[in-house]
Amino acid sequence: MGRVAVVTGGTRGIGAAISKALKEAGCTVAASYAGNDEAAEAFKQDTGIAVYKWDVGSFDACAAGLAQVAAELGAVDILVNNAGITRDGMFHRMTPEQWNAVINTNLNSLFNMCRPVIEGMRARKFGRIINISSINGQKGQMGQANYSAAKAGEIGFTKALAQENARAGITVNAICPGYINTEMVQAVPKEVLEKSILPLIPVGRLGEPEDIARCVVFLASDAASFITGSTLTANGGQIMV
Ligand SMILES: NC(=O)c1ccc[n+]([C@@H]2O[C@H](COP(=O)([O-])OP(=O)(O)OC[C@H]3O[C@@H](n4cnc5c(N)ncnc54)[C@H](OP(=O)(O)O)[C@@H]3O)[C@@H](O)[C@H]2O)c1
Repeated sequence: MGRVAVVTGGTRGIGAAISKALKEAGCTVAASYAGNDEAAEAFKQDTGIAVYKWDVGSFDACAAGLAQVAAELGAVDILVNNAGITRDGMFHRMTPEQWNAVINTNLNSLFNMCRPVIEGMRARKFGRIINISSINGQKGQMGQANYSAAKAGEIGFTKALAQENARAGITVNAICPGYINTEMVQAVPKEVLEKSILPLIPVGRLGEPEDIARCVVFLASDAASFITGSTLTANGGQIMV
């Protein structure tokens, strides 16, 4: 594709697969991360992809990080907002810290990352913004009022930003993964996974990070220029919306 792509949380899990797939598609990729230097260094050694450390929950850190990427790799054409966390708990026991951490990292990050790049994309008349939401933003999930709210918020943000920027050659889309085989899901107890989660997935398996990465490569491509404001559901048939 010959474009510059930034993938937040691009050094581990789904983000690492997205970074690698965009590189394979011909992009120059910057993978950002929060604090796991060891994983980021191993990813960089393994893939040759540039890594950058900043907190997507901080507007100033995002603006500075994106300026550094632009100076070193070139203006950002493709932005994949993938970084995310969970802080699960029933709402009646949820602390303000659990609520705020999830809203800040998963939802405020979309403002923090998109705002510094949107004017440049508009001026250049090209952009691809892809937000990694979740099945639990579509259907809600017990124990995840914070996460479900943030992920549903991502979908509304996607639709508004898509409308504002359609004439400027910028597409904005969301992807809603179902259960994907990453550390986030491996943290779920094995018994819960086998008895309560796998039986709900008609294709009979967890998704792999590469299943999501292929969706991103398509939405980032020139071939997807007529698709904007959409929510691509990739969940093995678990819910059909
Ligand atoms: N796994 C699933 O089944 C699933 C399903 C639906 C949606 N999703 C969504 O898909 C995305 C990726 O999930 P995953 O399972 O691949 O996660 P993961 O394996 O836990 O990786 C998360 C990545 O995000 C980075 N990150 C976390 N907080 C950050 C912050 N404040 N600033 C910058 N980077 C930060 C992490 O950096 P460090 O390495 O430095 O910690 C890491 O690179 C998330 O948005 C998640 O909500 C996942």
